[in-house]
Amino acid sequence: MSSRIAILASGSGSNAENIVNYFSKSTKFTFSVILSNKKDAFVHERAKKLSIPSYTFTKEEFSAGDVVLNFLKENNIDYIVLAGFLLKIPTTLIKAYPNKIINIHPALLPKYGGKGMYGNKVHEAVKNAGENESGITIHYVNENYDEGNIIFQAKCSLTPTDSAADIATKVHALEYEHYPKVIDIIWG
Ligand code: GAR
Repeated sequence: MSSRIAILASGSGSNAENIVNYFSKSTKFTFSVILSNKKDAFVHERAKKLSIPSYTFTKEEFSAGDVVLNFLKENNIDYIVLAGFLLKIPTTLIKAYPNKIINIHPALLPKYGGKGMYGNKVHEAVKNAGENESGITIHYVNENYDEGNIIFQAKCSLTPTDSAADIATKVHALEYEHYPKVIDIIWG
């Protein structure tokens, strides 16, 4: 029987779309719902295109835990994939889904992680530090931002002339290549 996955995304949702497309011919997973904390996030448009129902919950509903947990249980969700989701995952949800929630972070954790480090802020920090490499980290989610056990990392090299946007492009390419494969390896 195919496992039911919920994707949580706050922004554009390009990773969400890439993951769903990667498994479009597979029966291993059903991407049942996409949840966001932003009602105008572009991920809702992508969800429509992919024929996946998408819903918005408020920050309060996410942090309370129960509302979202009940929703996930009603929808028989087995696993949760964070794809550019910017709120903290409450303990209620982590306890209900032990090692069943994963996140992707656009840098090589433990560097450039923690509260407030997301999207372009990460790439700007990497640029300002003059790093000659960056990459992605896929990890299990625990109570602290970006601190759960690391499952997978991949690196890309940077040149001094790379802008934050160039770094983002390199990192996104790694995300598209590896996030679906890691999902397949751990839960497929
Ligand atoms: C991705 O680069 C993801 O790694 C990052 O947000 C971007 C979302 O892009 N996540 C974080 O920064 C989490 N701390 P997308 O909406 O196009 O998939």
